[in-house]
Amino acid sequence: MADAIEVRHLVKRYGNLAAVDDVSFTVRAGTVFSFLGPNGAGKTTTVEILEGLRRATSGEVRALGLDPWTEAAALHRRVGVIPQDFRFFEKITPREAIEYYGSLFGHRPHPDELLARVQLEDKAHSRFDTLSGGQKQKLGLALALTNDPEICFLDEPTTGLDPTARRAIWDVIRSLKSEGRSVFLTTHYLEEAELLADRVAIIHHGRIIAEGTPPEIIAAHGRPERLRFAAAPALADYLRPRLGLAVSAADGRVEVELGAPSDALRVLSAVAASGVPWASFATAQDTLEDVFVRLVGQMDDGTLKAEGTT
Ligand SMILES: Nc1ncnc2c1ncn2[C@@H]1O[C@H](COP(=O)(O)OP(=O)(O)O)[C@@H](O)[C@H]1O
Ligand SMILES: [Mg+2]
Repeated sequence: MADAIEVRHLVKRYGNLAAVDDVSFTVRAGTVFSFLGPNGAGKTTTVEILEGLRRATSGEVRALGLDPWTEAAALHRRVGVIPQDFRFFEKITPREAIEYYGSLFGHRPHPDELLARVQLEDKAHSRFDTLSGGQKQKLGLALALTNDPEICFLDEPTTGLDPTARRAIWDVIRSLKSEGRSVFLTTHYLEEAELLADRVAIIHHGRIIAEGTPPEIIAAHGRPERLRFAAAPALADYLRPRLGLAVSAADGRVEVELGAPSDALRVLSAVAASGVPWASFATAQDTLEDVFVRLVGQMDDGTLKAEGTT
C-alpha cells in the first residue's frame, strides 16, 4: 500500500530555535500514526507543515504524494483537519457550521449523517458557545470529515476533555481507521497513543527519540519484565545472591527482573525455599508511559542522544 505521509529530514527554524530538528517518519495509508510529545515538542509545527499551513525550513515532506506547500489546494481537497484549540463563530449551530464548511470548500456534505457519525445529533441546533469542550471537538471532527478525507490530521483532539468525552472521540478515530482513512494524531496522552495508534513517534525538543509500534518501543526502551512480591526486604536479601538477576525492594514490595520468561520458575522456587512470607505476586511490565517518562528524563539530563531515523 502507498504511504499516506512521508517526511525526510524535516527542519523548521524560528530564528535560532529549531522547533523541528531533522525529523523523518512514514505513515502508511490506512493506519493511525500518533505523534506523542510534551508541550513545545514540535507537534503542531510538524502537523501544520504537513497541512501546508507552514513552510518547512528544509527537508522533504509529502502527503498523498503531494508537496503540501506548493500543492496545497490539491491536498486540501483530500485531507481533513482539526486545528489545536479548534474554535468557531459563537452563534453558529453545528448544522449550520457543516453547511458553511461545505459551501466554503465546494462540497455537499450531509449534516445529519456527519452529526450522527460523531454522536452530536441532539446538538444540531444548539449555538456553538453553548457546547461543552467534548461537543466542540466532535463538531471539529464532523467538519474535518465534510470532504470525505483520505487523511485526518487531529492536533490534540482530546486535550482537556473529561474521560467520557475522550472515549467518544476515540470511537470516532477507530471508525476513521476502519473506513480505511489514515489518521495523524498528536497527543500528550500516552494511553491514548497506546490504545489507538498502529505506530508512535515520541518527539521531544524537535527530535524523534523513539519510533515504532507501542510494543516495539517498550521492548527497545523499557525495563525487562518483572515479578513483584508483596514481601519484606528480607526476601530481596535472600534472592539477590542466589539468582543472578536484578532484585530491588521498596514500599513493601520486592521486584525481580526476569532475563527470560523461564526465569520466573527459578524465582518462584527460590521464593518458596526462602521461608520469607509473602502476600501476593504479580508480573509487572513497563507501559509506554514508563518508557516515555524515562526517555524524556534522560534526554533532559543530556544522557541520551536523539536517534533521528534515517
Ligand atoms: N510561530 C512561531 N514563532 C516562534 N516560535 C514558535 C512558533 N510556533 C511555535 N514556536 C515554538 O516552537 C516550539 C514547538 O512548538 P509547537 O510545534 O507548537 O509544539 P507542540 O505542538 O508540540 O506543543 C515551541 O518552543 C514553540 O514555542
Ligand atoms: Mg501543539
